[in-house]
Amino acid sequence: MQIGPYTLKNNLILAPMAGITDHPFRELCRQFGAGLAVSEMVASNPSLQKHRRTLQKSDYTSESGLRSIQILGTDPQHMADAARLNQQRGAQIIDINMGCPAKKVCSVAAGSALLKNEDLVKKILDAVVNAVDIPVTLKIRTGWDTENKNALKIAEIAEQSGIAALTIHGRTRACKFKGSAEYNTIKQVKQSINIPVIANGDISCPEKARQVLNFTGADAIMIGRAAQGKPWIFNEINQALKNSKSYKNPTIKEIQLIINNHLEHLYSFYGKLSGVRIARKHIGWYFDNLGTVPATCKKEIYQTVDPALQMALVNSVFSNTEFVFKK
Ligand SMILES: Cc1cc2nc3c(=O)[nH]c(=O)nc-3n(C[C@H](O)[C@H](O)[C@H](O)COP(=O)(O)O)c2cc1C
Repeated sequence: MQIGPYTLKNNLILAPMAGITDHPFRELCRQFGAGLAVSEMVASNPSLQKHRRTLQKSDYTSESGLRSIQILGTDPQHMADAARLNQQRGAQIIDINMGCPAKKVCSVAAGSALLKNEDLVKKILDAVVNAVDIPVTLKIRTGWDTENKNALKIAEIAEQSGIAALTIHGRTRACKFKGSAEYNTIKQVKQSINIPVIANGDISCPEKARQVLNFTGADAIMIGRAAQGKPWIFNEINQALKNSKSYKNPTIKEIQLIINNHLEHLYSFYGKLSGVRIARKHIGWYFDNLGTVPATCKKEIYQTVDPALQMALVNSVFSNTEFVFKK
């Protein structure tokens, strides 16, 4: 899979997810086989550029792989400036978010709401592509709603504007996350343009990955929610796609070590207090993927604000509970 001058080591990409695909999680997913890990979205609004959270999200130093930074906004000039700023901060790829259905994003007609306004899409893409000399990628949904699926038109605009790769989440904006993703539109887009296409939506296991790649003909797949609490999914899928018989998912002992390292990274990246808070959701996802963790243990872990205690409580769960992997 090629994005501009960059050859990815495989065709598995970690999806941008606000509040989740931060520096520690991107590193973890890379370590477990993601060929590319896209950042959380960074606002393009100039008034937010010096905001503590924006600066933290834009800290790409010490990142071990390709730095793909997602920007969000509605104003072509702001988007161009944000792309330039992120290139200066070390981005190697700029990804444009036209896929997010969140209310606070769509109420200002950003994210997937932009799909409704094809002229503005063109202006934004042209402005961003012309502002930087690194590849610009675009992430969209299949359209505004099921009656207005304009992914084919947006794909044509993207190709004309010089977009280096296009990701399509197989749902419309109106679908939010309901129902199942559909891959017909992704297949049609792949057949209609000559830039790499990345298929996204509901890919959660090797069989689904193979099906989606075969059906759509996409160059790569993007995985979001299925990586939560299971960052090794990239290795699992990668090995399955290579028909490797020898791959084994991590043992419970190895998962405990993965969680320990993840928590340490969160505490050092965010500081102790924020690190503990941010760790809670990740611990919850790890536990969801493992079997039976008593509610009382979870409650204690979610309530503590002390990193050493949080770590000790997590480890005590491992020494006290008989885990069974969910199928
Ligand atoms: C919590 C959450 C946050 C997300 N944030 C973003 C985002 O910032 N930018 C974006 O383009 N998509 C975002 N998405 C959408 C994902 O990138 C992806 O398209 C979607 O989850 C479908 O893929 P999946 O079924 O593999 O999860 C988000 C999804 C979730 C669940």
